[in-house]
Amino acid sequence: MCEWVEETDPDGTHLKTKKYEGKLYVSLIPGNIKDHLEKVEAMEVRDDDTFIMSYPKSGTHWVFTIASMLRSGKSTYIGSPHFLEYNDIDMLDKLPSPRLFASHMTFDRLPRQVREGKGKAFVVSRNPKDVAVSLFLFLQKLTKTDFHGSWEGFLRFYAEGKMVYGSWFDTLFAWEKTKTTYKGDNLMYLVYEDMKQDLLSDVTKMASFLGVTYDKEFLEEVTDRCTFKTMAKTIMEEIKPQEQDFIKRVSEEKKLPIYRKGEVGDWKNYFTVAQSETFDKIYEERMKDAKCTFRFQ
Ligand code: A3P
Repeated sequence: MCEWVEETDPDGTHLKTKKYEGKLYVSLIPGNIKDHLEKVEAMEVRDDDTFIMSYPKSGTHWVFTIASMLRSGKSTYIGSPHFLEYNDIDMLDKLPSPRLFASHMTFDRLPRQVREGKGKAFVVSRNPKDVAVSLFLFLQKLTKTDFHGSWEGFLRFYAEGKMVYGSWFDTLFAWEKTKTTYKGDNLMYLVYEDMKQDLLSDVTKMASFLGVTYDKEFLEEVTDRCTFKTMAKTIMEEIKPQEQDFIKRVSEEKKLPIYRKGEVGDWKNYFTVAQSETFDKIYEERMKDAKCTFRFQ
């Protein structure tokens, strides 16, 4: 069973969320978490199911949109993914193929059949300073949010792993462990900064991982439709009205609070020099045994 966890600092920084088996989850996850996660674990997976796994704000919607185009063969936007952790599993069971799901959980919380090799999953990660800025600003825009506080307070909680879905570092290490221990070939790892540098290359690799074949024109069309500029401008005009209702409910500004800036290095506009130095020290210490490195600009 989950417990409610509440953290409040004297300066008003506040996090109220759910903890289950040592991990933090957003309070949006229904009930006691245990029952829901058991249903996720037992979910019937189809061969053409696609899962997008990430720590929040790492490019989940971006990878989802590309994957949806590659799965359908159409360069249309389909809105936001169904998250494994918030949605009724009976509803997810009935969705037509090809289904795409997202989750901010780690490998151990994927449906058992995925962990046995069925379906395909993309795992996307992004440097923790840009994630911090993106997450802080995103949480400000939600009508219901687990976190309240200043940027300074947010950063302190985030560095300590007191955040929705816990620590960025713990999530990264969980996936690094999966990368070395899991022998299946149904996971593909993506890095936000690499996608920014050469999107066509990653789109092409994603298509090949999914086992779908397209001519160069279609892969270029997907790439063009999935640049930040194009997505940010056109997605709200093209997605389904029912999706927009959802957006209106969750967002203060009544627009999808996802497509903000889409850059590498925007953290420099928010971190003070002192905040950056403090975070760098934590990063250096925590990442000393990590296998991967991140680009921050
Ligand atoms: P910023 O807030 O830094 O702009 P998620 O989908 O995991 O919530 O991630 C959201 C982040 O991904 C936001 O970052 C958003 O702008 C960025 N993003 C979404 N689509 C993108 C794209 N096509 N290119 C680059 N970044 C994108």
